[in-house]
Amino acid sequence: TLTQAEKAAVVAIWGKIAAQADALGAESLERLFSSFPQTKTYFPHFDLSQGSAQLHGHGSKVLGAIGEAVKNIDNITGALATLSELHAYILRVDPVNFKLLSHCILCSVAAHFPNDFTPEVHAAWDKFLSQISSVLTEKYR
Ligand code: HEM
Repeated sequence: TLTQAEKAAVVAIWGKIAAQADALGAESLERLFSSFPQTKTYFPHFDLSQGSAQLHGHGSKVLGAIGEAVKNIDNITGALATLSELHAYILRVDPVNFKLLSHCILCSVAAHFPNDFTPEVHAAWDKFLSQISSVLTEKYR
């Protein structure tokens, strides 16, 4: 679990991310699909061309869920329970893909907020995203 200092580091930069959630979400997905093309197989029904409305819509949903986790940082499991069932039982996303998406989200945040992305913020966000991934994949077992 996150230490108090890590929680503070996650929350500190969230305001800036939230203000650009749509763009950052879409960019994270663009990075995911171009660096790890196998992940596109989960989105056969999407227009995945750069800047597409679906990419932006979905990017903003993903970042919105991360925002819920930020707001409920002491109860991420509860906050993402419905989403956890969706990814496990209905979408059946292979857990390895969560590491890939988390990496792409980190890259987008680092690229947009280089001055805020200190080693401490990087490490805290890495741990936070891996906690979200654990919650979204824990129902698989
Ligand atoms: C749907 C969040 C990881 C594939 C969603 C939705 C959210 C979300 C909020 C929309 C749910 C709804 O409409 O009710 C997240 C978060 C993730 C994550 C926070 C990790 C940080 C992944 C990964 C994949 C994936 C790694 C596959 C590579 C999908 C698909 C949908 C979906 C296929 C349905 C899209 C549609 O048809 O509209 N996710 N997700 N997700 N997610 Fe994820």
